[in-house]
Amino acid sequence: MTEKQAVMVTGGAGYIGSHVVRQLGEAGERVVVLDNLSTGFRESVLHGELIIGDTGDQALVSDVLQKHNVGAVMHFAAHTIVPESVSNPLKYYKNNTCCSRNLLECCTQAGVEHVIFSSTAAVYGIPQGAKANEDTPTAPINAYGTSKLMTEWMLRDLSLATNLRHVALRYFNVAGSDPECRIGQSTKKATLLIKVACEAAVGKREKLCIFGTDYPTPDGTGIRDYIHVEDLASAHLAALDYLRRGGDSTTLNCGYGHGYSVREVLDAVQRVNGQALNIIEEPRRAGDPPELVAAIERIQQTLDWTPRHDDLDFIVKTSLAWERTLLEKARG
Ligand code: UD1
Repeated sequence: MTEKQAVMVTGGAGYIGSHVVRQLGEAGERVVVLDNLSTGFRESVLHGELIIGDTGDQALVSDVLQKHNVGAVMHFAAHTIVPESVSNPLKYYKNNTCCSRNLLECCTQAGVEHVIFSSTAAVYGIPQGAKANEDTPTAPINAYGTSKLMTEWMLRDLSLATNLRHVALRYFNVAGSDPECRIGQSTKKATLLIKVACEAAVGKREKLCIFGTDYPTPDGTGIRDYIHVEDLASAHLAALDYLRRGGDSTTLNCGYGHGYSVREVLDAVQRVNGQALNIIEEPRRAGDPPELVAAIERIQQTLDWTPRHDDLDFIVKTSLAWERTLLEKARG
């Protein structure tokens, strides 16, 4: 009997990748993780084999694809800090664009059939309406968004020229963690709202700031579509299933289709934690759109995907539990 084809997960030791790896393991998939551990953690890989290396290393990538009989690649490995992408764009084009190009070349040479790519709502920049659908013109306003969009374009062009089919998933605001608290978001210098608020809630930060209270939204603060990482992870498995059943290449928003304001998020953190936070109101942060929410009709029509955690309190609860776990680990 021929060996079952493996799924290669780049960046599988990172926040989102590690949740996907765990779910792939639970689904009985053979998994090989390629991660250079620049921001990921060895102990976050709960399933499959971890190979420490870079997606830019063509010899290594080709070797892994061939040795493990890889049929599908899920590509998470990337730099993801937006302000850093503004100050050091070439770092982002190198890792997120050039290394993706390298990976895709290896994939086409090795005959990999399916690629699932971590894209981002940052490709939309500041859209005209509050809801962005996949046909909304892309207009990224930072190198992070552009570097990801360029990979979407490479995939699109490869779909026309080769047998490689892909799903590009445009993530909205990802938060939460494994409800069993085995893995979570461990980013050192967090800037994302729910992570920062949970750090403040467990006492790792003295205060947190609301960036902008004068937006044209009901309470004046920014609105985003927060999706639980477990639901985002299950969308990847649904995308894999879709491609294996012969689905065409496509690009799909990943969100719940409704949003919460910064104040609503902070209220949830205070409610779940049972304690008031020290909240400071600050001016708007450059480049933040007032409202960014996913139109989700296409993902609903395309994938067999049912989100299970569309519940802000649950997102916050699991984020808080993980923050406490990190604190205990740090205390030894
Ligand atoms: C971030 C990325 C975006 C990416 C998205 C999903 C930035 C600038 N943008 O979105 O490109 O597509 O994640 O991965 O990193 N806020 C505060 N106080 C804080 C932090 C945030 O008020 O301490 C507010 C922001 O102004 C915004 C909302 O909370 O209105 C969410 O911000 P954040 O969690 O940083 O994510 P985004 O910027 O929406």
